[in-house]
Amino acid sequence: MTETSFIHRFEPATSAGSPPLLLLHGTGGDENDLLGLGKMISPGAALLSPRGRVLEHGMPRFFRRLAEGVFDEDDVRRRARELSEFVVEARKQYGLAAPVAVGFSNGANIAAALLLLKPDVLAGAILLRAMVPLSDPPTADLAGKPVLLLSGQADPIVPAGNSERLAARLTQAGASVTHRVLPAGHQLSQADVTLARGWIANVEARAA
Ligand code: MLT
Repeated sequence: MTETSFIHRFEPATSAGSPPLLLLHGTGGDENDLLGLGKMISPGAALLSPRGRVLEHGMPRFFRRLAEGVFDEDDVRRRARELSEFVVEARKQYGLAAPVAVGFSNGANIAAALLLLKPDVLAGAILLRAMVPLSDPPTADLAGKPVLLLSGQADPIVPAGNSERLAARLTQAGASVTHRVLPAGHQLSQADVTLARGWIANVEARAA
């Protein structure tokens, strides 16, 4: 792969019919973090799990931020472009269909940026504790793309109004958005896994 490549893990599918998952970790995570979650959400699906290329005090992320929840939007755009190039290359290398992103926190934010900036790259997305990644994104055509947004009612990082704005923005772009607010904080809960698993089974059934 080229210089846009990412350190990553790839696990091939062990059963046919499920879309590959693009696993995008949170700040300080790596390519190993979400493999277990991916297997719980969609057993048998191929898993493509890159490590974010930005370091914040040694902690990998997918784009630079100026402060918690305050993003370097030029970097968001640049990194979303790099990640989209990686997905295109990895699809060729591993023979994959368009993936559904499963992103947590910073990983969910870059997944949301990918949807808005490169709408053809993802088949859909599960956004866990996501925020609006760009104040002024281009008009994307996400016609019918399925998106599950799971927010935490007591999330100290993502204000309720912010995730509502993200849901509205994606809906306005034509995505088929399911937004659920869970009795949780920023961390994931069992309800996230259960809802994500049910949602993806539904997406697969509709695609079959
Ligand atoms: C971000 O920087 O993407 C958000 O603040 C979430 C996080 O803490 O990574």
